[in-house]
Amino acid sequence: MTRPVFRPLTTYREVSVDEMKCQIRVFRDDMLRRRTVRQFSCRPVPREVIEDCLQIAGSAPSGANLQPWHFVVISDLEVKRQIREAAEKEEYLFYHERAPKEWLEALAPLGTDELKPYLEAAPYLIAVFARYYGLTPNGRKVKNYYVMESVGIATGMLISAVHVAGLVSLTHTPSPMGFLNRILDRPAQEKAFLLLVVGYPAEDAVVPEISKKSLKEIITFV
Ligand SMILES: Cc1cc2nc3c(=O)[nH]c(=O)nc-3n(C[C@H](O)[C@H](O)[C@H](O)COP(=O)(O)O)c2cc1C
Repeated sequence: MTRPVFRPLTTYREVSVDEMKCQIRVFRDDMLRRRTVRQFSCRPVPREVIEDCLQIAGSAPSGANLQPWHFVVISDLEVKRQIREAAEKEEYLFYHERAPKEWLEALAPLGTDELKPYLEAAPYLIAVFARYYGLTPNGRKVKNYYVMESVGIATGMLISAVHVAGLVSLTHTPSPMGFLNRILDRPAQEKAFLLLVVGYPAEDAVVPEISKKSLKEIITFV
């Protein structure tokens, strides 16, 4: 069994209560501006910004620190085209055959359909993969724990980082997503978690008029 090694916590920075209140209000107001965008500009985005966002995602807490994620960053036009074609095929079946009526009703206020032009227009697609087990150099399987929880947290941090960077994103979950393993040549121990579309919004981008639950509805203090 590996023995733990400890070092002093030097990264924590305490702030005064006033600063605390001020900082979190500034962050809150900034985060409340975030919207999922479905019309993207093809304006280029520096690759290093995407790398910084992914470094933030990769710093997320994870079950037993096993970091059960892999991010594939796609900017290649032909790969984006293949992804759009495969996603639109699945989404056509979803919207026209597979989706139960209640699901379509829940989606109706968003105005989404099977057409996904943003998968080619946006400068970057980030395919997030959940890794169910790792492999040691001699090929032994090592199980990962709390995979969905960990990848969900990392993805949330990625979405926040993209927003703080001054870009917009769309969380896309074409169903099913097995085609991403095939197109991106990912191994069997990984399952596509979602596809994050990242870039600048189109100049004429619009977002659906939807609202968030109030604090009262989502919090219970005990
Ligand atoms: C797990 C998950 C899957 C989603 N899948 C899709 C999707 O496939 N297509 C889409 O247009 N939006 C998708 N969305 C975006 C949601 O519709 C959006 O977050 C929601 O309507 C709230 O809007 P907001 O992000 O602007 O607050 C998804 C969001 C999440 C968290």
